[in-house]
Amino acid sequence: MIDALHACEAQALERLRVVQAMPELEAWEIAVLGRKGELAGLLKGMGAVSAEDRPKVGVVANEVKTRLEAAFATKKQDLQASFWRERLAADHVDVTQPGRQPAVGHLHLMQQAIREVTAIFERAGFARARHPEIDGDFYAFEGLNMPKDHPARDEWETFFCDLPGNEEIGKIVLTPHTSNAQVRELKKGVFPIRMVNIGKCYRRQSDATHVPMFHQFEGLVVDRVASITHLLGVLEYFVKAFFGPERKTRLRPFHFRFTEPSFEIDISCGVCNGVGRVDGEKCKMCKRGWVEMGGAGMVHPNVLRAGGVDPQEYQGFAFGWGVERTYLMKQGMNIDDLRVIYKNDIRFLQQF
Ligand code: DAH
Repeated sequence: MIDALHACEAQALERLRVVQAMPELEAWEIAVLGRKGELAGLLKGMGAVSAEDRPKVGVVANEVKTRLEAAFATKKQDLQASFWRERLAADHVDVTQPGRQPAVGHLHLMQQAIREVTAIFERAGFARARHPEIDGDFYAFEGLNMPKDHPARDEWETFFCDLPGNEEIGKIVLTPHTSNAQVRELKKGVFPIRMVNIGKCYRRQSDATHVPMFHQFEGLVVDRVASITHLLGVLEYFVKAFFGPERKTRLRPFHFRFTEPSFEIDISCGVCNGVGRVDGEKCKMCKRGWVEMGGAGMVHPNVLRAGGVDPQEYQGFAFGWGVERTYLMKQGMNIDDLRVIYKNDIRFLQQF
């Protein structure tokens, strides 16, 4: 009996030695130490042992059982320890490593430009107005002193829409400029007016210097007295605030149907500082020291009338510039293809 117990122990320990995982260990426990296990099976034979030998056998049986249980406990601890060792090694977090910055986006450069332009005009007492980007022919043209079939309309390569227009506002167009805001603002009948309308414009054009969808900002001031001097003052203020105090502004006579007199506004070039030459060579940006920014003028009496305003009582000035051009000019960039702004190439956009 005693030999049998020792043989059982030796064999069980040998099997335990090669156990590598918890489920195997549990199976071992049931097979060896379980109620119906090998040890229990041997002890059933106690009845056959003589009364004299029984205490001795009993002592050995207990010792064997204790050793097997101890070996089992040790093995269990080892397995658990190695389980956690592996788990921790796999989940290892090195808190001393520098963090990985999540990519942070930012506003599109045109949105930045729009906000900057808005803030500058707000400081001068202008309020940002919002007028439709899809509007009637009346607001886009006719109310601006451009009767139907007037050749001046050709300058705006307009997208007319299939949407049903109506008697009052005419055909529906994707606004080719933000000037549709003028008559709409006049019609509100709240004076004085100091508004800046910034919105999308659409023209049937797409080449290196034109995109079919772009932005303009349209300023309108209407008051009992509003003069060219005021216009020049506002534009100079804007140019210095937006481009820098060293920039100069000049008006060049021009023609628009909705202003009289009309001007084009030039600002001194930021690349050659208005000289027209860089290192003895012609400035690539401007050629003559000035860059063209946009249109302006004194609001035409017919436009005031279209907005229900008496030209004897009120006068006004207006200006309209392209946001894309203005912004690129500020960056001192002579971009050879304007379309890059809307290509969504992150390498380009990230620079702003
Ligand atoms: N609407 C004109 C354009 O798109 C620009 C313009 C010229 C706006 C003169 C004005 C203005 O308000 O007074 O080319």
